[in-house]
Amino acid sequence: MTDTLTLTDNRTGKQYEIPIKDGVIRATDLRQVKSGPDDPGLMTYDPAFMNTAACRSRITYIDGDKGILEYRGYPIEQLAERSTYLETAYLIIFGELPTAAQLESWKEEITLHTMLHENIKKLMEGFQYDAHPMGVFLSTVGAFSTFYPDAKQIFDEQARKKQVHRLIAKVPTIAAYAFRHSIGRPYNQPDNELSFIGNFLNMLFRMTELKYKVSPALERALDVLFILHADHEQNCSTSAMRGIGSSHVDPYSAMAGAAAALYGPLHGGANEAVLRMLKEIGSIDNVPGFIKRVKAGEGRLMGFGHRIYKSYDPRAKIIKRTADEVFEVTGKNPLLDIALELERIALQDEYFVTRKLYPNVDFYSGLIYQAMNFPVTMFPVLFAIPRTAGWIAQWEEMILDSEQKIARPRQVYTGSPRRDYIPVDKRT
Ligand code: SDX
Repeated sequence: MTDTLTLTDNRTGKQYEIPIKDGVIRATDLRQVKSGPDDPGLMTYDPAFMNTAACRSRITYIDGDKGILEYRGYPIEQLAERSTYLETAYLIIFGELPTAAQLESWKEEITLHTMLHENIKKLMEGFQYDAHPMGVFLSTVGAFSTFYPDAKQIFDEQARKKQVHRLIAKVPTIAAYAFRHSIGRPYNQPDNELSFIGNFLNMLFRMTELKYKVSPALERALDVLFILHADHEQNCSTSAMRGIGSSHVDPYSAMAGAAAALYGPLHGGANEAVLRMLKEIGSIDNVPGFIKRVKAGEGRLMGFGHRIYKSYDPRAKIIKRTADEVFEVTGKNPLLDIALELERIALQDEYFVTRKLYPNVDFYSGLIYQAMNFPVTMFPVLFAIPRTAGWIAQWEEMILDSEQKIARPRQVYTGSPRRDYIPVDKRT
């Protein structure tokens, strides 16, 4: 037995030996399969990349059937239990858990980069009061490229490291200021004495008190949620980060595109869509009718299903546990009962079971965010903050990967055959 695929092209009777490595064949190895001398050779056709590996990566491992998620080899359950978001971000970006000294230096760097340039704050002022915070977020990240032109030095390790510090440190500030702008309240300056999460809560919710009092339970819950959202291999927004970054543009411009992808209701916007769905259902009595409409194809059960996980999303399990801890502090979210009833029915209903539709990371996270007094429009932004670590790590891995070059997929042309121009007075 050999690690090869023997292909017979029945159009010509010719046979080909295609090498198999790491469970894949190289698509370019198929170009030799030609039906005749004028044939450019076979390509693979894979809309939405359902079965195409676009890169080799050492960052995140997912087993969709077993519900496994590991960052740099560490199981998500252990990181959620024992790590913090900042430590996990370090792991994802640099590849190893930091030593005590490395962690202290990392925290120091991040703490000293949380402030925004005054002109960025003025830029954010230009948005309408009811501008969606995710639109403000992705626009402001893109604007960073004009404030930090040194980010264009993408092959300079020190310049890259500086952008890493700026992005990890400043995305919570952008998010908090987008929120404060939307409710017409003044910005709160970062408080360097607080933790990364504590300072985020301070910038969001401090009112007239001199020192914001952080709830340890909510601080820990948000830390866990950020750990769970930090990376997820080649999802839609990370693929956008890699694709845009492959043109060698600066990381801020690439990340603006990644955030735009995450904004979509099928991706990071799903947590907002889940809350809107639960509110629309309104009561447990309406759940059977809603499920019936979904099964009739009249909409989707938002927060359910996943391209990779064909079993329960391991992050949803942890979030469900975290929800109980948050509700002890905030009081139970009345929409939780509707969510639990939806899950109970869906997990036993043949329509969902046959399609392997289980709760994903977005199904319960929104309930926690709402209980923490976040408006639903902030939910995708709360996803984007921690995913910044994954986007940066995946972007850096891509630009340093000698196998990678500018992303430029092919197509199957199905348009009009060649034809001559028709003057306008001859057109019917
Ligand atoms: C995230 O990729 C990642 O890793 C993403 C993410 C990350 O961390 O980056 O995990 C974060 O984006 C989680 C997903 C959040 N999105 C939602 O919750 C939106 C609702 N879910 C879907 O729309 C859907 O499940 C996707 C987009 C998540 C996955 O879609 P796929 O893999 O393209 O599957 P599909 O749309 O082809 O659906 C397959 C079948 C279809 O039925 P049939 O046409 O075969 O009859 O399942 C049905 C779909 O109609 N289906 C659903 C459904 N999801 C799929 N039916 C009802 N409700 C749903 N939620």
